[in-house]
Amino acid sequence: MRIPFIPVLAALLAACNAPVHTPEPTPATPASLPTVQEETLEARQERGRYLVEIMGCNDCHSPKLMGSNGPYPDPERLLSGHPAGQVLPAVPKAVLKDWALFAMGNTAAVGPWGISYAANITSDATGIGAWSEEQFARAMREGKWKGLEGSRPLLPPMPWPNFARMPDADISAIYAYLMSTAPVENVVPAPVPPNEL
Ligand code: HEC
Repeated sequence: MRIPFIPVLAALLAACNAPVHTPEPTPATPASLPTVQEETLEARQERGRYLVEIMGCNDCHSPKLMGSNGPYPDPERLLSGHPAGQVLPAVPKAVLKDWALFAMGNTAAVGPWGISYAANITSDATGIGAWSEEQFARAMREGKWKGLEGSRPLLPPMPWPNFARMPDADISAIYAYLMSTAPVENVVPAPVPPNEL
C-alpha cells in the first residue's frame, strides 16, 4: 500500500505550528472506575507491591546498580529516591531549552523546569513514613508536593497526571505497600530551578 506521504506530512507540520497553549484536559474523577477492594492489610500490601512494580515507580524512585544488561534497582535501596550526595555531571546548556535528560539511574532529570530529583517514598521518616493516606492520595492524583493542600505542583517527570483517575482502593493498596517497605534514610536534594543552573 502506498502511504499518502505529502498530506500526512502537511498535517503533521500544521499540528506542529498550532498554538502551544491549548487548554489542558480536566482530569476525570476516579470514583466510577471498577477496582479491587482488598479486605485484609496483607492483601492490600500485596496488591500495592504489584501496582508499584507494573506502574514503574522503581524506574525513577529506586537508585540503580549496574548489571550486564544495564542499570537495575538496588534491592537495598528500593524506592529511596535520588541518593543524597551523589554528584552529577554538569548540565549541557542545550538541555534547558529543547531537551530533557535523565541521569544514569533515572533518579534525577533535567529539562526546561530545572533539575528534579525522585523522592524517597519508603516508610522512613525521610520518605513518606509520616504521611497520612490523604496526603498520599493528594500527591498521586493532584500532583501536590508532600500531598499538602496549596503546596507547589510536583515537577516532571513525576507522571502524576497519569494517576489522576486512580480509584481509592488502588491508592490505598499502594500506600499500604509503601508503608510496609524497609525504611531507607535518605534526604533527597531540593530541585534546582532553571535560572540556577
Ligand atoms: C518518570 C519518573 C517517575 C515515575 C515513573 C514515578 N515518579 Fe514519583 N516522582 C518523580 C520525581 C522526579 C519526583 C519529585 C518531583 C518534585 O520534586 O517536584 C516524584 C515525586 C513523587 C511523590 C511526591 C513526594 C513528595 O515529597 O512530595 C510521590 C508520593 C511519588 N513520586 C510516588 C510515586 C509512585 C507511587 C510512583 C509509581 C506509581 C511514581 N512516583 C512514579 C519521578 C517519578
